[in-house]
Amino acid sequence: MLDWTDRHYRYFARLLSRQALLYTEMVTTGAIIHGRGNYLDYNEQEHPVALQLGGSNPQELAQCARLAEERGYDEVNLNVGCPSDRVQNGRFGACLMAEPELVAQSVDAMRQVVAIPVTVKTRIGIDDQDSYEFLTRFIELVAAAGCEQFTIHARKAWLSGLSPKENREIPPLDYERAYRLKRDFPQLTLALNGGIKTLAECQTHLKQMDGVMVGREAYQNPYLLASVDRTIYGCDTPLADRREVVEKMVPYVERHLASGGRVNHVTRHMLGLFNGLPGARSWRRTLSERAHLPDATPGLLLEAMAEVGESLEPEVE
Ligand SMILES: Cc1cc2nc3c(=O)[nH]c(=O)nc-3n(C[C@H](O)[C@H](O)[C@H](O)COP(=O)(O)O)c2cc1C
Repeated sequence: MLDWTDRHYRYFARLLSRQALLYTEMVTTGAIIHGRGNYLDYNEQEHPVALQLGGSNPQELAQCARLAEERGYDEVNLNVGCPSDRVQNGRFGACLMAEPELVAQSVDAMRQVVAIPVTVKTRIGIDDQDSYEFLTRFIELVAAAGCEQFTIHARKAWLSGLSPKENREIPPLDYERAYRLKRDFPQLTLALNGGIKTLAECQTHLKQMDGVMVGREAYQNPYLLASVDRTIYGCDTPLADRREVVEKMVPYVERHLASGGRVNHVTRHMLGLFNGLPGARSWRRTLSERAHLPDATPGLLLEAMAEVGESLEPEVE
């Protein structure tokens, strides 16, 4: 998720779940090929991690997929779901649902040059092209090019008239359509995305689908991730402890500062860690008010936690 699931968030998320597959923000082929930033940087601890690409030029996508594989990413995912105007001008994102042949060519070009999975994240329709047949034609053509895994954001996108935020809220969720797709394409690996807030909901969807992708809830309420390994993957590992997670983030922030970064680059992703517990507000406030100050140090995390420390409840499952 743009601006949210950067490498700092992903490092933090990985301390909560060893198993969940993490996705980068969408990175455009233009940024990777022509940009000056180090857009493919990530921490080794993040694995398994998928790079999401935005683009529609098959050769450029292939070039970026190859770089991603060389850099060690575990998967390359193509964004066919983002409805923003900026993205449409670049002819990528959700508007590509109208050009399944081009998406198929892109997948084919990427698959020719990498061995890691090439996957696609898509909506269930765009504008008036929202019939089940439109969706199945898209999936059929892209699957024929070798894409075996799709994430289905189970709502359509309006390409004009709605902001990206509205496009994540206003078009109604249609889980039934995603379930039907799975029934009609049993050979494909299909994950469901959109509006999922609890692991119990994940378990319900997993009776019909092969996977689930949780976006906003995993960001705003990150401790949800702590139960993923046990509840979803059946691992027998102890639940991550919030305090230990914060303590492990301190040296990470130290390293980030040493490389010229700021404390709030990291701590802004941790604001929701204590959600639902007494003291959550004080944690959030301390970090939001002080982490951006020039003299902020990594110890601010411990200071902020000390304020909530006494009121932490014992974990109940
Ligand atoms: C701030 C923000 C940025 C997002 N950026 C991306 C993105 O870069 N690529 C993408 O495929 N989806 C992006 N999304 C959409 C989410 O991946 C997801 O499809 C959507 O929020 C619905 O799932 P959820 O209800 O679990 O959040 C973004 C969502 C938000 C809130």
